[in-house]
Amino acid sequence: MTDTTISIAAPSPASQRFVDEYKTAMRHVASQVAIVTYGRGEDRGGITCTAICSASTEPPALVVCINRSSPARDGIARAGAFAVNHLTDEQSEIARAFSQSSQVAAPFDLGQWSTGSEGAPILAQATANFECRIDQCIEIGGHTMFIGWVVAVQTAPGSTLLYRDGFFRRLAQE
Ligand SMILES: Cc1cc2nc3c(=O)[nH]c(=O)nc-3n(C[C@H](O)[C@H](O)[C@H](O)COP(=O)(O)O)c2cc1C
Repeated sequence: MTDTTISIAAPSPASQRFVDEYKTAMRHVASQVAIVTYGRGEDRGGITCTAICSASTEPPALVVCINRSSPARDGIARAGAFAVNHLTDEQSEIARAFSQSSQVAAPFDLGQWSTGSEGAPILAQATANFECRIDQCIEIGGHTMFIGWVVAVQTAPGSTLLYRDGFFRRLAQE
């Protein structure tokens, strides 16, 4: 296969109305919820995220999108590695804690955490844990996309925690 480069001019600033329409549409999209963790010891941190997806299977790679104004952005960049901990529907309290780290003194006190091979915190009983080493960072609008090679995975039983239209939700069987 030959390499193809696609060049698209950056869009001019979107109108506030269009941004609001985009946000409304995104509220209709159900997403899995994870805690993206980074750092070691006193320097460790985490952030509740839904903007996560598989980037490649062979070899395995993941992408996470982090707001540039979040301390997690610089924390992940400094660490050079991160872990994605996908939550069960019994771990919504952990999702709330890591989405308000400025208000929650010790979010790592919730749940049982160990240290992964790359140093990032790993949550026990998460449905899936992915440990990643950063390959690339891409700035896109207000976010930074971190693309990481997956170096270790772990799974556990449990039902996935979802987020849609401002609420945490459980997955129902059809
Ligand atoms: C369900 C949910 C999903 C979120 N997904 C992301 C995300 O993918 N990327 C991101 O940068 N922030 C995401 N956030 C926002 C952060 O978790 C956090 O709320 C925000 O950075 C403010 O955190 P602070 O109180 O620690 O400053 C999400 C928040 C929630 C509640």
